[in-house]
Amino acid sequence: MKSVKRKLLSGTIATVLGAVSLSASAAEGDWLARFGFADVSPNDGSSGVVADDAIGVDSGSSLYVNGVYMLRENIGIELLAALPFSHDVTLDGVGKIAEVDHLPPTLSVTRHFNVESNVRPYVGAGINYTTFMDEKAVAVVDSIKLDDSWGLAAQAGVDVDINDKWFFNASVRYIDIDTTAKTNLGNIDVDIDPWVYSLGVGVRFP
Ligand code: NI
Repeated sequence: MKSVKRKLLSGTIATVLGAVSLSASAAEGDWLARFGFADVSPNDGSSGVVADDAIGVDSGSSLYVNGVYMLRENIGIELLAALPFSHDVTLDGVGKIAEVDHLPPTLSVTRHFNVESNVRPYVGAGINYTTFMDEKAVAVVDSIKLDDSWGLAAQAGVDVDINDKWFFNASVRYIDIDTTAKTNLGNIDVDIDPWVYSLGVGVRFP
């Protein structure tokens, strides 16, 4: 990830942690469950045995579910889970060289605003773990395996009430996902660093 992005991420994390320590409101204990569609749109860059940035990773969509436990009325702990996302890996001038699935579970602290209103924006920051699986070599390479990735994640979203139990949710996240693709031709470092857009519904309980 580039240093500007790193500064942005650390700024967001500092803001969220500041909010945690300054918040005076009482613990709420509510749970939110959200689910819907998410699209992972990589901002890829690469270096290694091929020309710099010659490797691309296309977008992939999947179903996601996330659960939030409200520590306070405006502070939550969120775990994002999903079914695997599938992506094509491409090489400039060639096209698709491989297919890969990944799972990107992310644990975040979220800060919610306008908590008394029926339109509630939030921001969050946290840690992402991405594991790759079912890598298939299609062309040029005979074998390919991608290392797991740990990185920072930042997000902004909004919950909009449908009634007092259900709500719509939209969010965008940036996740720092960097991996090394180990191929029979050599290693290629790949920054995937995707934007993740999601749309869904949520339910609040109890
Ligand atoms: Ni990165």
